[in-house]
Amino acid sequence: MNFKRFPKSFWWGSATSGPQSEGAALKDGKSHSIWDLWFEQQAECFHNQVGPEDTSTFYENWKEDIALMKQIGHNSFRTSIQWSRLIPDGVGEVNPKAVEFYNNVINELIANDIEPFINLYHFDMPVCMQEIGGWENRKVVDAYAEYARQCFGLFGDRVSKWFTFNEPIVPVKQGYVYANHYPQTHDFLKASTVAYHTMLAHSKAVIAFREMNLSSEIGIILNLTPAYSRSEHPADLEAANVVDLLFNRSFLDPVTLGHYPQELLNLLAEHKQLPLCRDGDAQLIGQGIVDLLGVNYYEPRRVQAKQHVVNPNSSFMPEWFYDPYIKPGRKMNVHRGWEIYEKGIYDILTNLKENYGNIPCFISENGMGVEGENQFLQDGQIQDDYRIEFIKSHLDYVHQAIEEGCHCKGYHLWTFIDCWSWINSYKNRYGFISLDLETQKRTIKKSGEWIKTVSQENGY
Ligand code: BG6
Repeated sequence: MNFKRFPKSFWWGSATSGPQSEGAALKDGKSHSIWDLWFEQQAECFHNQVGPEDTSTFYENWKEDIALMKQIGHNSFRTSIQWSRLIPDGVGEVNPKAVEFYNNVINELIANDIEPFINLYHFDMPVCMQEIGGWENRKVVDAYAEYARQCFGLFGDRVSKWFTFNEPIVPVKQGYVYANHYPQTHDFLKASTVAYHTMLAHSKAVIAFREMNLSSEIGIILNLTPAYSRSEHPADLEAANVVDLLFNRSFLDPVTLGHYPQELLNLLAEHKQLPLCRDGDAQLIGQGIVDLLGVNYYEPRRVQAKQHVVNPNSSFMPEWFYDPYIKPGRKMNVHRGWEIYEKGIYDILTNLKENYGNIPCFISENGMGVEGENQFLQDGQIQDDYRIEFIKSHLDYVHQAIEEGCHCKGYHLWTFIDCWSWINSYKNRYGFISLDLETQKRTIKKSGEWIKTVSQENGY
């Protein structure tokens, strides 16, 4: 009686990225991405000094892994192509070994009735491109567009869903504002330039895609983090509004409406943080509207009005406009330090329905990273009931949103198999499948068995 049925052909699956799962970091012609370089330079920045070299050995074990996906009922799966593997010099020559690998993966997925969702960029700038400035340099925008065109040409006859970027705001924030990712810079103007050029690159890839008349769809994956104000006081509400402009609408508006929010442009202009624009840019941004939006949701952001006056001589920061707010009694994922607020997923979908033309979308990431999962090992299997509970309580809200007319077409967990989490390395485990780092043995967790029945029955 309480069965929650999802729409026909709902996408059940999971997501990962090339740099976090493939391993073989410098094998078969792949060049360095910034992650390979940074680890070589500063291994101490990574949890337990585990780097991207081996990650989860998908480069070797793709066939076995795809069989496991099938076994746990996946009908779709997202991964990313590594630019530094496909075109090791950033521009020019395509690496035949990479083409062979990605062809194998795509063909094997299709042979197993698993729809390949392919993303083109997941935080992994090739070093040769970073050396000329990365996203600060417009030459990299053109190089990326060319790389995207190559991907569409090589694999576009079989890939049905393309994504230009995963969470494009992450390299902006972590690399250029808070300096906890390479190139570890604190400079808001650079950050806004990087964000803007990423959007231009996105639009150029969409234009290339449309020119090639492919029958597939193109999208982008955004981490939409709803901003909740402490109270209804106008100052708290304004703090939440600015946070929404800076962290959500800076990418969401251009890719769905074709332009930036005027309020954001005014704010950046007032503080002299607008990137350099050229004639024709606005038109370019207007051509980046996507067919499909991937929504990554992990945690809400709670804010309040600033409690103290900002030093106007300090360097410009988003925190000029808000203070973080800790809600009493909040539910936490203590391993990751993230609040768990299931209704956030419903609020995002409702916002997309009400303010963004109900664009077709899906939950492209949601998940729970847990440290020391071996403590839940029983008879050789991780009993991750907490993950089942986490997924279910989010799916309840996805279901409600769909019932109310939201156009949500699927749910992908982060992630398929425990993977390498950037500076957190293997600290927190997220997968449906556990990975023994010593032996690389894969074992289905309880949640992997559970999702199989959900996918088969199209509900729970
Ligand atoms: C998303 C990213 O932000 O969250 C993934 O797309 C990432 O690449 C995932 O791994 C989980 O976050 P973290 O920091 O725990 O790895």
